[in-house]
Amino acid sequence: MRRLRVGCVGTGFIAGKHLHALAGFDDVEVVAVADAVPERARQAADRIGARAHADGLALLDNEDLDAVWLCVPPFAHGALEAAAIDRGVPFFVEKPLATDLAVARTVADRVAASGLATAVGYHWRHLGPVQRAAELLAGEPAQLVTGYWLDKTPGVGWWPHRDNSGSQVIEQTTHIFDLARHLVGDVATVAAAERPAEDGRGDVPAAASALLRFTSGAVGSISSARVLGWRHRVALNLVAEGLVVELTERSLTDHELRVVTADGEDVIRSDEDPILAEDREFLDVLLGRVSQARVPYDEALRTHALACAADRAARDGTTVSLLGEGA
Ligand SMILES: NC(=O)c1ccc[n+]([C@@H]2O[C@H](COP(=O)([O-])OP(=O)(O)OC[C@H]3O[C@@H](n4cnc5c(N)ncnc54)[C@H](O)[C@@H]3O)[C@@H](O)[C@H]2O)c1
Repeated sequence: MRRLRVGCVGTGFIAGKHLHALAGFDDVEVVAVADAVPERARQAADRIGARAHADGLALLDNEDLDAVWLCVPPFAHGALEAAAIDRGVPFFVEKPLATDLAVARTVADRVAASGLATAVGYHWRHLGPVQRAAELLAGEPAQLVTGYWLDKTPGVGWWPHRDNSGSQVIEQTTHIFDLARHLVGDVATVAAAERPAEDGRGDVPAAASALLRFTSGAVGSISSARVLGWRHRVALNLVAEGLVVELTERSLTDHELRVVTADGEDVIRSDEDPILAEDREFLDVLLGRVSQARVPYDEALRTHALACAADRAARDGTTVSLLGEGA
């Protein structure tokens, strides 16, 4: 059996989860990793018996790969994707696609022109509870949407700075925007407001809240806060005729679906590993067993455009129309 040869750029938190998942498959071999901090790359490479590179472009220049996983912070996107496309190397990339929309649009245009296989780490879509929620809402569409990302400020140095992460809305709450698009459809307009940070740790707002009008006619709000000392609530709640659907993430492998009707309430708890599921799916795309990933780059671009619109609406105090984005 031929093993797929893959590389991974970035060896931080989420790369660790992907490298662990990839190590568990017998039809793939991680041949090389890269990190801007060479010592980090070397340690990760030693753990898995791979070669280490001090940057992703060197990895792409020097390795013969079937695919590459791009697990770098939001500010580091653009050149890596361009290099992968130039070399015809399919890529899995973590969300968000970039700190802004311009870089992601440029990459999306080049991906479309190349026909290269891609996948993006909007992992909620791989969960059983989310698929069950989609089935329920297919029969009874959502009318009201309320979403939350209420959390602590992540400890990594790049995160609190808008130039590096985009913002909490673009970096974290993007998962909730993606879930809302998946379950309710595209958004027509977004208005928003934000409360500036006062903790002296960067310029990512302390809190932000977006008011959405979906093309289906549903309305809703999605809110973010980073001022807690713990993760309080990461969730999307949907109200349809005679039906409440609540999806909650407590950790990457702890999700819950709560369904409430006039007949009572049903709770489904899931310990599925969605990182493993999205990696397996992309490997199956590379092997020709699946035609495309459920979140290829162009689909992720629509979610990224929504998160960027919510961020811009909050910063500028305007209402942004997404109708030109294919909504
Ligand atoms: N899907 C999810 O639920 C999920 C969870 C966590 C993080 N993420 C995403 O993954 C990305 C990385 O997050 P993280 O938590 O792993 O961050 P991290 O800071 O733990 O790791 C990022 C690593 O990338 C390296 N790096 C930075 N620029 C680089 C470059 N140009 N070339 C090579 N390496 C570079 C850093 O040195 C660091 O080791 C973020 O976009 C984040 O949003 C997704």
